[in-house]
Amino acid sequence: MYVANEKRYENMKYNRCGNSGLLLPAVSLGLWHNFGDTGVYSNMEQMCFAAFDNGITHFDLANNYGPKPGSAEANFGKLMKEHFRPYRDEMIISTKAGYDMWPGPYGNFGSRKYLIASLDQSLQRMGLDYVDIFYHHRMDPETPLEETMGALEQVVRSGKALYVGLSNYDGPTLEKAAKILDERHVPFIINQNSYNILNRTVEQNGLKETSHRLGKGIICFSPLAQGMLTDRYLNGIPADSRVRTDGRFLHEDQMSEERLAGIRKLNDIAAERGQTLAEMALAWILRDGIVTTVLIGASRPSQILDNIKAIENTSFTAEELAAIDAVVGA
Ligand SMILES: NC(=O)c1ccc[n+]([C@@H]2O[C@H](COP(=O)([O-])OP(=O)(O)OC[C@H]3O[C@@H](n4cnc5c(N)ncnc54)[C@H](OP(=O)(O)O)[C@@H]3O)[C@@H](O)[C@H]2O)c1
Repeated sequence: MYVANEKRYENMKYNRCGNSGLLLPAVSLGLWHNFGDTGVYSNMEQMCFAAFDNGITHFDLANNYGPKPGSAEANFGKLMKEHFRPYRDEMIISTKAGYDMWPGPYGNFGSRKYLIASLDQSLQRMGLDYVDIFYHHRMDPETPLEETMGALEQVVRSGKALYVGLSNYDGPTLEKAAKILDERHVPFIINQNSYNILNRTVEQNGLKETSHRLGKGIICFSPLAQGMLTDRYLNGIPADSRVRTDGRFLHEDQMSEERLAGIRKLNDIAAERGQTLAEMALAWILRDGIVTTVLIGASRPSQILDNIKAIENTSFTAEELAAIDAVVGA
């Protein structure tokens, strides 16, 4: 039986999520990869123990995480039942709906029909009465925003989610959604978007600025560009890497010689700062205090422990920032 480390809160930093009352750890753990049916359950246990024992209180899921879709939530439900039930009130558990989940017209995008049914299914798979944060997973160009936001309102009113979030929205759509939710007094507190040294979309589509201005938190996913911003691929493609073991979302053709040369230069900049490339990549996201938390993935406990070290130094000189931008052409 798992007993959590008594000193688990000593070294983690907790950041306020926008203007809300919720504090999130500067590093959060996502269960997109390595927690589905193809993952190894004992490794899932060890990764969650390593995270929670070191102050990572936030675990992020979605209805479709797997493979197969739903299996990450089912495995997380097993972890909750076997180990984490006594710690439920110390945990922030999130899930989402918005991508293709079940056949037919009601298992995708942003209708009220889909979102409400999907959260019920997620709660059942995880064996939970409620999630802490429920997200609409992506913008839906066809469903009226009023309807999708109305569904988020209902999940909060029914007690199935404490807070709501939006994922993969852009600045202008976020602003419209926030107006609806704020007028209805729905606790919309967080945006989940991709952001890393190689992907500056949230700086270009207004999401980062708008979210900050509106007092909403930001949680950044794929902060290590799925492993590219680490030492993983510096000397070829390892057999146990995401590219080789999964390959659904990170492909060998993304590792061009040009990209690898850039990554090696970033690795040199990190070394000059006394950090690993992974640490520097995470610190870079947290550098200006606007992002609440970086949402890492991992394939083993040691990666989680390495990544937490990023919070020890999140300051950058103007020269360092310029050197990083120059490497990636930003
Ligand atoms: N809202 C959305 O649409 C959306 C989309 C994507 C992800 N997410 C969320 O974001 C989470 C994180 O995404 P991600 O997994 O792409 O994040 P990531 O942190 O960019 O990549 C994680 C991968 O990087 C490698 N890695 C991590 N730490 C390392 C270290 N210290 N040294 C060497 N390699 C390291 C591992 O790859 P190997 O397997 O090769 O070891 C690991 O699986 C997901 O779990 C999910 O919760 C959300």
